[in-house]
Amino acid sequence: MNRSALRGSILTFTGDPFFEDPRDCCTFIEDGLLIMKDGLIESVGPYEERAAEGLDPAYYPQAIICPGFIDGHLHFPQIQMIGAYGEQLIEWLNTYTFVAEQDYADPGHARRAAGVFLAELLRNGTTTAAVYCTVHPQSAEAFFEASSALNTRMIAGKVLMDRNAPEALLDTAESGYEDSRRLLEKWHRHGRQLYAVTPRFAPTSSPEQLRAAARLWREHPGSYLQSHLSENRGELAWVQELFPESRRYLEVYEKFGLLGPRSAYGHCIHLEEEDFADFRQSGAAMVHCPTSNLFLGSGFFKLFEARRQDRPVKVALGTDVGGGTSFSILRTLNEAYKTARMLGARLNAFQGFYLATRGGAEALDLADRIGSLAPGCEADLIVLDLKATPLMEFRLDFAKTLAEKLFVLMTIGDDRAVKATYVAGKKVHSRD
Ligand code: GUN
Ligand code: ZN
Repeated sequence: MNRSALRGSILTFTGDPFFEDPRDCCTFIEDGLLIMKDGLIESVGPYEERAAEGLDPAYYPQAIICPGFIDGHLHFPQIQMIGAYGEQLIEWLNTYTFVAEQDYADPGHARRAAGVFLAELLRNGTTTAAVYCTVHPQSAEAFFEASSALNTRMIAGKVLMDRNAPEALLDTAESGYEDSRRLLEKWHRHGRQLYAVTPRFAPTSSPEQLRAAARLWREHPGSYLQSHLSENRGELAWVQELFPESRRYLEVYEKFGLLGPRSAYGHCIHLEEEDFADFRQSGAAMVHCPTSNLFLGSGFFKLFEARRQDRPVKVALGTDVGGGTSFSILRTLNEAYKTARMLGARLNAFQGFYLATRGGAEALDLADRIGSLAPGCEADLIVLDLKATPLMEFRLDFAKTLAEKLFVLMTIGDDRAVKATYVAGKKVHSRD
């Protein structure tokens, strides 16, 4: 039996602050005790000496213990070209991305990058992510091996791409299906690993490949599907040319059977009401990637349209590294707030932290396991330091309420605020 404990302020959600008063859906324990056993959370409650007896809890004053962050969309091979200058989506893919991704034919390179990538996620407090590998099966092998060794709960998949990319990055409908099936059968539910069938986006897959992807996904209940949707105006026009029978971009994915629970679509910027309604009805999730959308000049995600109370769509946050410019979900929240402001809306701190934790877990159909600090959940959690920088320390002296403190964290916080990261009860990152 492996039991340990943490003491400090504890924050977690029991409901959705987009629709409920934070007082009814957010639990905050000023001086709390969280006990972990065998990788799971055993109990969460106010600190009591008697309950902590014999456990010698790790004590984190001036900090907030919350669930590990969830990143619903990013690309591990793009870690080597994050921050590439000057282009919008299609030129950016051709100029930088498709060049970098060719390096992942080399399993040694893939292993090295996977190690750096996972360490960077944990340093930033992200304990679960939905990850794109490259077209090479060995890139997914390298990623799952590294994640498996860390025991992190990750969703990932080999990218499917059989047209409109350099020859060296193409599979075929047949080989992509077979390679993905082998990977899925090996890695899906292997420990904490989960597989996502990953057609990159409509322009780089033939109709045959999209059909094969849907078949594979259907044949393996519980597996995931991830792709990109409506990110960039040029992309929209291209999809219109390639699939003239579909008026809307989303119809392409719908027609091939690629929409449903456990499917997650990155970006979702240029959408109509019918698209939101289809997401709602199908149970598919949108992933909001604001640092990427600003960096690539793609547009503004309509978060509050997506989360409209009469037909709320599930939404996760994504960094979309390397289109996105940071691994930090705190920095991503900062840009999500600004994006909402540009549309005249306001993302409050409770909504922000919900999206980063429980909301992300709900979008990825994992809310019964991660995203909350509750008995029985997997013990993936982080310690956010309220005195991480001189600016934060000074600024927070003037923040009176929990809402204010959390908002300062999501506005000026970054990887420096992540004092410690725990995965399945084990400390895997310590800042100091
Ligand atoms: N659309 C298709 N591929 C990509 C990618 O790698 N990054 C982003 N941001 N959008 C995409
Ligand atoms: Zn992406």
